[in-house]
Amino acid sequence: MTKIKTICCIGAGYVGGPTMAVIAQKCPDINVSVVDLNEARIKAWNDDDLSKLPVFEPGLDKIVEEARGRNLFFSTDVDKAIDQADMIFISVNTPTKTYGKGKGMAADLKYIELCARQIAKVAKEDKIVVEKSTLPVRTASAIKNILDHTGNGVKFQILSNPEFLAEGTAVQDLLKPDRVLIGGDSSEEGKNAIQALKGIYANWVPTEKILTTNVWSSELSKLTANAFLAQRVSSINAMSVICEKTGADVSEVAKAIGLDSRIGSKFLKSSVGFGGSCFQKDILNLVYIAKSYGLNEVADYWKQVVVMNNYQKNRFSNNIVSTLYNTVSGKKITFFGWAFKKDTNDTRESAAIQVADNLLNEQANIEVYDPKVVEESIYADLDYLNTRTEEENRSLLTVKTDPYEAARDSHAIAVLTEWDEFKTYDWQKIYNHMLKPAFVFDGRDVLDINEMEKIGFVCYSIGKGSSK
Ligand code: NAD
Ligand code: UGA
Repeated sequence: MTKIKTICCIGAGYVGGPTMAVIAQKCPDINVSVVDLNEARIKAWNDDDLSKLPVFEPGLDKIVEEARGRNLFFSTDVDKAIDQADMIFISVNTPTKTYGKGKGMAADLKYIELCARQIAKVAKEDKIVVEKSTLPVRTASAIKNILDHTGNGVKFQILSNPEFLAEGTAVQDLLKPDRVLIGGDSSEEGKNAIQALKGIYANWVPTEKILTTNVWSSELSKLTANAFLAQRVSSINAMSVICEKTGADVSEVAKAIGLDSRIGSKFLKSSVGFGGSCFQKDILNLVYIAKSYGLNEVADYWKQVVVMNNYQKNRFSNNIVSTLYNTVSGKKITFFGWAFKKDTNDTRESAAIQVADNLLNEQANIEVYDPKVVEESIYADLDYLNTRTEEENRSLLTVKTDPYEAARDSHAIAVLTEWDEFKTYDWQKIYNHMLKPAFVFDGRDVLDINEMEKIGFVCYSIGKGSSK
């Protein structure tokens, strides 16, 4: 079996950074270089002040502190890292295409292809290339094609090793994964490559949790896992609307069905809508793949998960407008939370963005407080939509670093992220400084509606409806 001594990971993002930090921590005899074209990101990974790491994940700072400089290195020298590595992980972004064929649906594989070409150009010795990014099924054959035509005699094995970590719990997910999935070729060289990667994970993952499959099953399993998870959220969100109409309570319904061991209790939390860089992207990619095989019924089935999610986000903002007497023009609405979930500073596809965009279109004034998201990310999210000018975004929305200040003189608070600290606030104090009637729209079911009502708030909670 090939013993891996040097690893290179292309892409120092939310997956590449934490994944490689854990590999480096658990395998002190392997040298791990994480490389990226983004200089600012690499600089932040190398910052002595660990609070400045570009990815906030509970527990990550300690791991980076232990391994960085020992056998974990962050650099912009991509060629050098490729040249020295026995195994190369590709962990670059695979966003939804914004142009050309498949626009708005297919995964944009240009960054993947660039990596493959760079590996082909630089490599002088045989290498194992590992797909860590989430990719459409059969991408490995495209990568293989590029790598096999270098003409310099170097041999490559391509493995698929999708990542299942969730943000906010990335470190725990990496340390104790439900499973590690490795897809590879059934040839002797393929089996050898699978064993080499398995050998790395076996340093801390029980071998019975390391699953090996063919490459296509592995690639498709990743899209399938995200589609199933997102589908559960859309399913419970669909029920949240019926709950609000009928007086049922969605958290009680979720508990009641989740106790059925066939259904299970996880991923049944109704919300203002799922966000994150992957669920929507991966489902749209799946829809595109189905369509490209002419499987329209399959495509429509999965598309509905995204349709439902958009409905849920828009329903939330529509409800704010209609409750506030059908106009929010000039009214101050405070957002508690901007991240797409708690315990992360990531805002990609956060429901907060769509809700804010809708309310700004109604000329609301928004003040945002999020414990981890910085002002520039919030403005970047809004500017990216291109709905308004940058000046308009900055004059209509301001970012506060103190939640009590953000809520002062506000007509309504909208809870967009389920940060634990929101439960610990002095809500009486917040109420005292708000305009009356003071409204709370809880899109995350984090607040105790009875307690809030006792204080005097008019409450709306997702899947529970309004108190008045
Ligand atoms: P990210 O945007 O945070 O990081 C990707 C990095 O790759 C960026 O820093 C970018 O500069 C770099 N990059 C792009 N092209 C490059 C090149 N040619 N050379 C060097 N660097 C390059 O993305 P992410 O969230 O880490 O996601 C990466 C992949 O992992 C995606 O396919 C995603 O679907 C998948 N994934 C993400 C998560 C998650 O929680 N974010 C979980 C599982 C899987
Ligand atoms: C998700 C998957 O959980 C990971 O397994 C996967 O690796 C990752 O996508 C990926 O491929 O990027 P992530 O998006 O980081 O991870 O976070 P989740 O915990 O899945 O939450 C996604 C969104 O769904 C969040 O907005 C969250 O608030 C929402 N959600 C989740 C709900 O609204 N209700 C739930 O019950 C669970």
